[in-house]
Amino acid sequence: MQKIEINTGATLNVVDQGDGHPILLLHGFPLDHTMWQHQIAELSKTHRVIAPDLRGFGESSEITADTFHMRDFAEDAISLLDALGIDVAITLCGLSMGGYISLELMELAAERVKRLILCDTRATADPPEVARGRQLMAANVLADGMAGVSDNMIPKLFAPQAVSENTKAVQSTKAVIDSAQPSAVAAAQRGMAERRDLSDPITKFAVPTLVICGEHDAITTSSEMQQMATRIQSARFVQIANAGHMAPLENPIETNRAIID
Ligand code: MLT
Repeated sequence: MQKIEINTGATLNVVDQGDGHPILLLHGFPLDHTMWQHQIAELSKTHRVIAPDLRGFGESSEITADTFHMRDFAEDAISLLDALGIDVAITLCGLSMGGYISLELMELAAERVKRLILCDTRATADPPEVARGRQLMAANVLADGMAGVSDNMIPKLFAPQAVSENTKAVQSTKAVIDSAQPSAVAAAQRGMAERRDLSDPITKFAVPTLVICGEHDAITTSSEMQQMATRIQSARFVQIANAGHMAPLENPIETNRAIID
């Protein structure tokens, strides 16, 4: 791991491992780079894998704003590429909130992306009741801290079998959620609540795109993601068996195969 100062005013904790074509991995909410542990291990044998803790999460510097938009995270990601001296077009891969950020990055700097991988995510904005739920959660964590958040989230993030077996992946994800900073959780929730609908812009994407979804994903369902994939010109949809929303962590063998293919 290294700490990289970026010119948008943050210091990011970053894995930069391996040589070759760069792949940038953007994690979900409210997680950190460790959700990509199996992709980092496998893909870094042949590629340069860059997996930051997004601003406010993991060991990166904190978010001081009340609301941190997906575009703000995308600007951080572009600044990180600059700070690392990466001037070739990359493979960009984001899961869920990392996917929302990836879509904003495409809007800001499509020329920096050679291939796109969207895992367990969507291009649409939140319906009003979902946005209200996020505002409520933001207020709750600022008032009461992270207690109870992981118990509420884990059954949505993982396939039912993983939850009932309390797998290592479930336990480690719970620990990451429990130690997340309430200020970052609130700011990112508010940013997600205010994110815009990008379902039209994605129809203009010209890069080869892989759309991945765990078969038991309860947050961004397989049918919703399949539909999103049909809107992207050169997209391929792959469903990952025995996995929920956290497909890369729950079934790394199939996820890695899809990415490598
Ligand atoms: C995530 O995994 O990043 C979250 O489920 C995103 C969201 O809350 O929409």
